[in-house]
Amino acid sequence: MKLRVEDIEIGAVMEATFWVNSAEGSRFRFRSTHLDGKRAPKVVLSNDKRIIPGVPCLVSIASIDKPERADHGHIEVTYVRPAPFRIEGVYIDPIVSKKLQILLESGLNILLDGPQGCGKTTLARSIADTLGMRFVFFNCGAVVEASDFLATIQVRASSSGQPVTDFVKTELLEALEQARENPEERYLLFLDELNRCTEGARNALMPALDATRKVFHPIENRFLEIPSNVQFVAAVNRGSEFTGTFGIDAAQLDRFAPLQMDYPPPDEEVKILRARHPGLGKGLIERIVLAADAVRRAPDVPGGLSVRATDEACIYLEHPLMEGDHARMLPEVLKSSFCGRYSGRWSDNDSDAGAVWGVTQASLKESE
Ligand SMILES: Nc1ncnc2c1ncn2[C@@H]1O[C@H](COP(=O)(O)OP(=O)(O)O)[C@@H](O)[C@H]1O
Ligand SMILES: [Mg+2]
Repeated sequence: MKLRVEDIEIGAVMEATFWVNSAEGSRFRFRSTHLDGKRAPKVVLSNDKRIIPGVPCLVSIASIDKPERADHGHIEVTYVRPAPFRIEGVYIDPIVSKKLQILLESGLNILLDGPQGCGKTTLARSIADTLGMRFVFFNCGAVVEASDFLATIQVRASSSGQPVTDFVKTELLEALEQARENPEERYLLFLDELNRCTEGARNALMPALDATRKVFHPIENRFLEIPSNVQFVAAVNRGSEFTGTFGIDAAQLDRFAPLQMDYPPPDEEVKILRARHPGLGKGLIERIVLAADAVRRAPDVPGGLSVRATDEACIYLEHPLMEGDHARMLPEVLKSSFCGRYSGRWSDNDSDAGAVWGVTQASLKESE
């Protein structure tokens, strides 16, 4: 995994991560030892002010000093742009990845819009991990009233037997308060299923998301300022119930930079599943993914089919109870893992599950 001097061309663009150069008397501020993940034949140096220590970036090779000497010299580079996002075990479309990186740098609120199980939550969590942010998950599906975002009301009996009302802070409120106390930390507040809370409740959240950056604190009866180290990322599912629309009005939508996501392409989904289920053959995983792809494309099947469904099918088939019997069990597994996620039964042609079964069967026959 070591590069030779011959592997490095002047003008080539390669990835590197720099650290502050501590060598005494050096005129270069930044140094790195690797290019494109491989050990460089000479130390890589740069004076480019756009480099941020510790953050992977793309650089252009400017010159190679003393190419003939194995133990001397250096490679000088100039900064090109930040390196693309790469998150272990998660597929992100390269264009979505670029847009996402730009949005995160700008601090805009982000709305991830995609079918269920295409990786919205996984992506948000991974971004937070990669950028060293605290990830706070909040499901908006249970929010009925505006105050539910920040507190839940609990009634208990006091020692005198009288009912007492307690306000319990939600994860969201806890995080907003923590963010204020820890300005050096960054917080990613993930608002899952934003389309599922009531319109009125969503409206009350809007000032938090625009320039006002304030929400009403229902316990302390005052406005709470959203600290600048808080980044909002919301997600909406375009499922069967929300075909074509997600019920969020234009003014609310306008507070977000929307980012469309979709299922990973089949070859990428195969890679994800192979890494998770090394006990299964490539051919079998490919058949599962091809069938899922066919279901997702089918015009008469509403909603999506989560990567959870293909993952679940692999979990079944990888189990010792199914060993040696994959050919017979595969259709049986998909009856539950695929068809079971839709209304009706696989055996009922007129139901969604029946339509899914039809598409699945045809795909299995084709991939036999
Ligand atoms: N693009 C992806 N890369 C890796 N895993 C994925 C991807 N999309 C979905 N998954 C897997 O599928 C499951 C559901 O993903 P999730 O992020 O919860 O979907 P969503 O939030 O869009 O409904 C998770 O187990 C996740 O690991
Ligand atoms: Mg999710």
